[in-house]
Amino acid sequence: MEGLYDIHAHIVPHFDDGSKSLDETRQILELEYRDGVRTIIATSHFRRGMFETPLHVYDEQFERVRKLGESMGITILKGCEFHANMEMIDMLNKKERYTMADTRCVLAEFKNGSDKAFIKERCYALLSHGYQPIVAHFERYEACRKDIDFVAELVDMGCYMQMNSQSLIGEDGFFLKQYCKKVIKYELVHFLATDCHNTKERKPTLGKAADYIEKFMGEGYVRELLIENPRKLIIEEK
Ligand SMILES: [Fe+2]
Repeated sequence: MEGLYDIHAHIVPHFDDGSKSLDETRQILELEYRDGVRTIIATSHFRRGMFETPLHVYDEQFERVRKLGESMGITILKGCEFHANMEMIDMLNKKERYTMADTRCVLAEFKNGSDKAFIKERCYALLSHGYQPIVAHFERYEACRKDIDFVAELVDMGCYMQMNSQSLIGEDGFFLKQYCKKVIKYELVHFLATDCHNTKERKPTLGKAADYIEKFMGEGYVRELLIENPRKLIIEEK
């Protein structure tokens, strides 16, 4: 399927633990293109004490990546994977980090062991300040893995949920794959994305994941998850 969107990718070189060079980014983009991806949001990490590279470095590198993407037929947009903390609203208000593609959506990451109360509180804080949280790779969090009702609770609150393609196709273990399939069947997932970092153990796998979902949910659902929902995000969530 062509025209897919990947809303979670670490393709800006020299900025976080993702791509290490423009050449590596080119190789990642080649794989994405082969999978049918034509739009990518470059969601480099921001995490206090771990990934704090100044934003101007992102801007400089982003421009090189954007031009590279353009030459390959892929539109690349700005974004950030924001590790949730108590200053995030303030930082977003001051535009110290990017939202998703200049919309009000924020890709919010948590620790695998973050407790339910913290996840809910931070999502609520975003919502009440006019931001739309997208919970990054929720399937990795114990709070979500052990309790699908908690995922439903976040969705009811108004959160969008993003799953990694790698988790769904079983590259992070059989049990995680089973869990992912189950939440997709419950229709609690809004976005499927690669979270790619390189061309090896964290390479983009959206094509394989799309084929897999099609088998148990049908083509229409794949379109919704990988084209319609991200398209709406970019166009409508301003
Ligand atoms: Fe990520």
